[in-house]
Amino acid sequence: MEHTIELGYAVVEVADVDAVAGFFTDVVGLAPGEPTPAGHRTWTDDDVAQRVVVTRGLANDLAVLGFEAVDDAGFDTVVDRLGAAGHDVRAGTETEAAERRVTRLAVVDAPWGTPVEVATGLTRGSRPDTPLMPGGFLTRGEGFGHAVVGTTAFDESVRFATDGLGMVRSDYLEMEIAAGIELEVHFFHCNARHHTLALARVPFDMPTKLHHLMFEANERDDVGAAFDRAFAAGLPLPNGLGLHDNDRMFSFYVESPAGFQVEVGHGARQITEPWSDDRRYDRISAWGHQPVVHAPGP
Ligand SMILES: [Fe+2]
Repeated sequence: MEHTIELGYAVVEVADVDAVAGFFTDVVGLAPGEPTPAGHRTWTDDDVAQRVVVTRGLANDLAVLGFEAVDDAGFDTVVDRLGAAGHDVRAGTETEAAERRVTRLAVVDAPWGTPVEVATGLTRGSRPDTPLMPGGFLTRGEGFGHAVVGTTAFDESVRFATDGLGMVRSDYLEMEIAAGIELEVHFFHCNARHHTLALARVPFDMPTKLHHLMFEANERDDVGAAFDRAFAAGLPLPNGLGLHDNDRMFSFYVESPAGFQVEVGHGARQITEPWSDDRRYDRISAWGHQPVVHAPGP
């Protein structure tokens, strides 16, 4: 598989922008960036000007997922492939491209119910200080992290990811999480990151489509420090520190003030070509990832 795209940015719509702002800066340890031309606040985990854009609204959910094409030829390849797969792709306007700080932009509706954007020429500057994450984040050649989306339109979404975006399945998870309730998650790569997108089959529309965004720290100890910040903030911790079985990522999950979760991790294994390890897993984690219960206050 050619490395044509990587995860470029996510736009999330949240009701309480200030609470989410504090969460991204002071808990996750992302670097605040300049506001967009339309005045929306931004964060980044590397030298790209804006990796996360926060807009104000009631959804408390993913609003847009943006994929960066590595060059103009890659951009054309992905746009053509989306069109050939039957998706209605439109060119972004100049105003929209300026808002994303990109040179070329295409927009398409993903079956899971949000727009997906394909872009080139993401504005880059110097890598910002991330004093809470002194080792920085792993993004080079792999994008800013990964996104996991739950959808009732699972089969269509899988085809969109593979036939449209050109991603390849890394592996999949099937397990019974309660009597008669199956969890099914498929993991997709488009570069060396084990998965850039994962899709979960859900039986009915959930409060949020976005299950989580993941940011990968270069240093294991930075994950532990982030866990301590999340714990001290009293935020819900659906999954404490643990190790995923499939991508071997050491991580934890914290619920943001908007409801969707953020995974902070380290050390995931990488995709090697040709990829020959697409197989079924029947457990999420090799160890850990237990829910953390905060002790009642005094
Ligand atoms: Fe994840």
